[in-house]
Amino acid sequence: MVCIDEKIRSRSAKVGVVGLGYVGLPLAVAFSEAGFKVLGFDIQQKRVDWVNQGKSYIADVSEARLSSALANNLLEATTKQSRLKEMDAICICVPTPLTKTKDPDLSYVIHESEELSKYLRHEQLVVLESTTYPGTTREVMLPILERSGLKGGLDFYLAFSPEKVDPGSKKYYIKNTPKIVGGINPNSTEVAALLYQQVADVVVPVSCPEVAEMTKVFENVFRSVNIALVNELAHLCEQMGLSVWEVIDAASTKPFGYMPFYPGPGIGGHCIPLDPYYLANKAREFDFHTRFIELAAEINEHMPYHVVFRILELLNNRGKSLNGAKILVLGVAYKKDVEDTRESPALKIIQLLREKGAEVSYNDPYVSQIHVPAGDMESVEVSGECLASMDCVVIATDHSCYNMGEVVARAKLVFDTRGVTRGLKQANIVRLGE
Ligand SMILES: NC(=O)c1ccc[n+]([C@@H]2O[C@H](COP(=O)([O-])OP(=O)(O)OC[C@H]3O[C@@H](n4cnc5c(N)ncnc54)[C@H](O)[C@@H]3O)[C@@H](O)[C@H]2O)c1
Repeated sequence: MVCIDEKIRSRSAKVGVVGLGYVGLPLAVAFSEAGFKVLGFDIQQKRVDWVNQGKSYIADVSEARLSSALANNLLEATTKQSRLKEMDAICICVPTPLTKTKDPDLSYVIHESEELSKYLRHEQLVVLESTTYPGTTREVMLPILERSGLKGGLDFYLAFSPEKVDPGSKKYYIKNTPKIVGGINPNSTEVAALLYQQVADVVVPVSCPEVAEMTKVFENVFRSVNIALVNELAHLCEQMGLSVWEVIDAASTKPFGYMPFYPGPGIGGHCIPLDPYYLANKAREFDFHTRFIELAAEINEHMPYHVVFRILELLNNRGKSLNGAKILVLGVAYKKDVEDTRESPALKIIQLLREKGAEVSYNDPYVSQIHVPAGDMESVEVSGECLASMDCVVIATDHSCYNMGEVVARAKLVFDTRGVTRGLKQANIVRLGE
């Protein structure tokens, strides 16, 4: 029998990628570009069909790359979990959301592990890529996979390797982002590291999956805490009549010991708003309260409320009530130049404004429709007349394609939550943090 490391080295190993979303689809394409035969698994038939037709639904994967992988016969997608048995290596990229009460929801990981346990065979490598709390791979996945009768680390290999995509980034992608790998035993780490060496320039093996799991959550907590700190500073600057943007720019001239983070309308995406809760929840098992982490989440989650309060105040100062005011929100994706609206603070802002009786419309060149509690909304065209007819234009997401000079020239009042109008001096601009 040819062992898995020989198959990986010769690139004859078949790679399965489970969950063809923001993480899984780019990974599947990266493995096929490295010469592996890749089978993508998803429970959504339409995603499977799109992949097989070469239609990309993830901005970071161009249709040209997808079509070339298909033309080379190195990529295929399926909903059939039974085909997991054909795979030599399986990377699991399913969602890890929160429940309504903000507890970790591992149902996707558990369900997939149960499916996998039916088809697991000798010499397979299984890697969990979904972000989760330390202990998930060994405490949750391993016992389920061992229901197959096979022993983890001996009959099959099991590791955790966090995905680190930065959606929309033109600078960092799978190849040039170091990949952390931690297996349940040295053999598992070694085989998983060998697999990722085929697609990433630098692979960093760590002693166990728990370290790899903690590393990923720590990276996101680090961002959450620093964003909360600068959001708090933005509040203070507003009270003190200072500009937080000027303070950050000045602090950024320090060549050591400082790294800029920026305030904003809140945090979004699938990582930063969620992952800190995974760690905070696990910590409670150890009678440990992650006070820093929870305080940061509280400050960040309050930002949409603060933005709405500022808009209300600005209108009030102009003798106008929020109830009945016409407000245009520019950008609803959670960050610039992406189409992802998951946990986007703009959605919360729109919801709060509507609850207070404002007449809200939005524009986002990447997002044609949104679902908010008061009903679905469609992106409107931003014309000069549209801008001029608004009581307030709120810059919620600073997509590069927006012409801010034009927006400011036409609108009566602009509330900028991202500091993108910093270079402009017009009196109708009010910025968060000033
Ligand atoms: N989006 C990011 O920027 C990012 C970055 C790093 C890590 N992560 C983590 O990666 C994981 C996946 O995130 P994502 O953004 O790619 O999610 P996503 O929702 O974009 O994609 C997940 C896919 O998994 C599919 N799926 C669910 N259960 C399945 C199953 N049993 N079998 C096959 N397919 C299944 C869904 O249909 C969906 O297409 C999460 O844990 C997330 O926290 C995300």
